[in-house]
Amino acid sequence: MILITGGAGFIGSHTAVALLEAGYEIAVLDNLSNSSEESLKRIKSITGKDFPFYYVDLLDYVATDRVFRENKIDAVIHFAGLKAVGESVTMPLEYYHNNITGTLNLCMIMKRRGVKKLVFSSSATVYGFAEKVPVTEDMPTSTTNPYGSTKLMIENILKDLFVSDGDWSIALLRYFNPIGAHKSGMLGENPNGIPNNLMPRICSVVLGKMDKMTIWGTDYETHDGTGVRDYIHVLDLAQGHIAALKKCDSDKGVFTYNLGTGTGYSVLDLLDTFSRVNNVEIPRVSMPRRPGDVESLYADCTKAKEELGWEAKLGLEDMCRDSYNFIIKNPKGYNN
Ligand code: NAD
Ligand code: UFG
Repeated sequence: MILITGGAGFIGSHTAVALLEAGYEIAVLDNLSNSSEESLKRIKSITGKDFPFYYVDLLDYVATDRVFRENKIDAVIHFAGLKAVGESVTMPLEYYHNNITGTLNLCMIMKRRGVKKLVFSSSATVYGFAEKVPVTEDMPTSTTNPYGSTKLMIENILKDLFVSDGDWSIALLRYFNPIGAHKSGMLGENPNGIPNNLMPRICSVVLGKMDKMTIWGTDYETHDGTGVRDYIHVLDLAQGHIAALKKCDSDKGVFTYNLGTGTGYSVLDLLDTFSRVNNVEIPRVSMPRRPGDVESLYADCTKAKEELGWEAKLGLEDMCRDSYNFIIKNPKGYNN
């Protein structure tokens, strides 16, 4: 059985579907701090399969340990964490406590119970202000905010863990910019409050919750002056986790992989593609650069292709179509 921490969230819920469809047994642990049980109902409805859900906080060692006692867990995919960059700057202690202590609890329990296969959700944010693109996994790491620091610290903790005990198999997956939604329109991104990221903000404008899109920075040295990122469909990302699990089944070590498409698209590329494929207008206004933003960040995904046999298959049009399909079917997210 695979334990998915944070399995009610955006990426975790899509990965849960992919795992169930691939024949894995799963259990989900989540404290629902940034998600709702509705996503779990929908995972069951899409797959026609049932699984245990534990409404548990990783900060609660005893409750987390009980999940391991009650199930025969072979490996863990660890999504649970707080992820808002801006919020991490105003609430650093909460971010360090939740993300680091939560991971330490999880790993101590895994060690005690002899479960030594772990797939961890890291982030492209660990490349900081990368000196060149596309970025490869061996490039220097650094961070620019507490959220990013938690990811880099956890990567280092997991590397130390392997040094102490060579029996572990740990995959560090550095996601680029996940967007898109399940093809059914039943699962998608369901951000709390006012969203910060580009695709959720486009969706807010399209739904009339915001007046217009703010384009943060039109004077970058990119093909159209706006920031460039590596957007990846969440369904491709979900498949990347299955590939990483297989790697952990066959090899011991710590393995780091970029999960992106390898192609950089600008803010305007995304806005224009979204408009065109969904036939909607997106009013927009140009604003100065957002502090802390990098100009261009996209992945070299050769390593994942060579070692995991994984590569992203879906393009920007699919991402825009599927994100739109989800919000049209769920204008109030999971609170319909
Ligand atoms: P999400 O917020 O939708 O999912 C995270 C889940 O973890 C939520 O359901 C939340 O309730 C749960 N959670 C948080 N703290 C917990 C705790 N202490 N105990 C139990 N559950 C807890 O986020 P997501 O977009 O699905 O991201 C999943 C992971 O991927 C996160 O670790 C995030 O940092 C990482 N990541 C996300 C992105 C992105 O842009 N979405 C990019 C890079 C990395
Ligand atoms: N952008 C706008 N207007 C908006 C929102 C975003 O122009 O309303 C621009 C940003 O300036 C940037 C691009 O769209 O150029 C992407 O911004 P996002 O906020 O969607 O994504 P980031 O790449 O800045 O950050 C994301 C996650 C982080 C993660 C990082 C890793 O939010 O958690 O990717 O690369 F650390």
